[in-house]
Amino acid sequence: MLKINFYEVTPTDKRFLNKALRGRFQLGFFPEPLTAKNVATARNADIVSVFIYSVLDKGTLSKLPRLRCVATRSTGFNHIDLKYAAAKKITVCNVPYYGENTVAEHTFGLILALSRNIHKAYVRTVRNNFSPEGLEGWDIKGKNLGVIGAGGIGSHVIKIAKGFGMNVIAYDVRRNHFLEEVLGFRYVALDELLGKSDIISLHCPYNKTTHHLINMKNIGLVKKGALFINTARAGLIETEALHYALESGIFGGAGLDVFEGEDLVKEENQMLTRNVSVEHLKAVLEKNILLNRENVIMTPHIAFDSVEAVERILQTTVDNISSFATGSPANLVR
Ligand code: NAI
Repeated sequence: MLKINFYEVTPTDKRFLNKALRGRFQLGFFPEPLTAKNVATARNADIVSVFIYSVLDKGTLSKLPRLRCVATRSTGFNHIDLKYAAAKKITVCNVPYYGENTVAEHTFGLILALSRNIHKAYVRTVRNNFSPEGLEGWDIKGKNLGVIGAGGIGSHVIKIAKGFGMNVIAYDVRRNHFLEEVLGFRYVALDELLGKSDIISLHCPYNKTTHHLINMKNIGLVKKGALFINTARAGLIETEALHYALESGIFGGAGLDVFEGEDLVKEENQMLTRNVSVEHLKAVLEKNILLNRENVIMTPHIAFDSVEAVERILQTTVDNISSFATGSPANLVR
């Protein structure tokens, strides 16, 4: 019987996976991510299933000689060394579609909170202060939305934006003119998008080509006061450029579901009880600087996290594992 270890599982995940796979596979469940620190727990696993905080780099994968398949319960796979996995004949599969609408809806949650000062109003009203002073917002109707990466999530964002009466421009390395016509947006070059957008929203994958796509060299092109929304991956923007843009008013605000060091700050409350690295301190400091700004909203990587999307993720993972076990792997990542 193949042994599967699931990492980063919640009690809900465990119930679902147990019900779907018990009896056919030997199952192990771990709430923590799989990293170099606990790699020994996966020593006997034929399959591991992880979420995005696991680090399946060469160091970790090389310590798992039995491993034949990684089933990541995410769309993104930048936490897995694909080259090394391929060399070791380890199959990697992902969940390509599950939350296009889910992430797009969260994106608009961040946009609307910032444009209408909902986060500021909330803080005020929980303190029993109902003064509307300083809470005047602005309409998103008629504004320019710049979507970077008009794929699954990006095209849902475009559809929603059209419903709000926004003008949409998009930058993508692959242009789909049918989509452009049907959804009623226009592809432009990255520089033009930065210069024309009132709101910039990132929806492309993070990889070597997209690392620091927005950086200190091109941040100056951004239309002054634009809102910056990142529900994709932190590394798409150089952190220095993000801080600089907020400090100088280039960005009028930012809605961040992802940010550099998000995995480290999750453990902030444990910092006083153990050795802390400089990297850890830097992540916490940068996060606090962002949080201290009234025009920044951060959410803890929850754009995907709706009841419906999580069920879709788990079901696809179960299907991926079953397909792999029967010799016809699906949703392969290469
Ligand atoms: P997708 O693959 O459907 O779309 C990505 C689009 O980006 C494609 O149209 C592609 O051509 C484009 N693209 C690729 N390289 C590019 C480049 N260098 N410049 C501009 N465009 C480029 O992916 P999907 O499902 O829309 O997801 C996008 C990203 O969102 C994922 O890679 C993942 O990192 C992130 N994500 C975040 C979640 C969260 O909870 N915050 C949940 C799910 C995904």
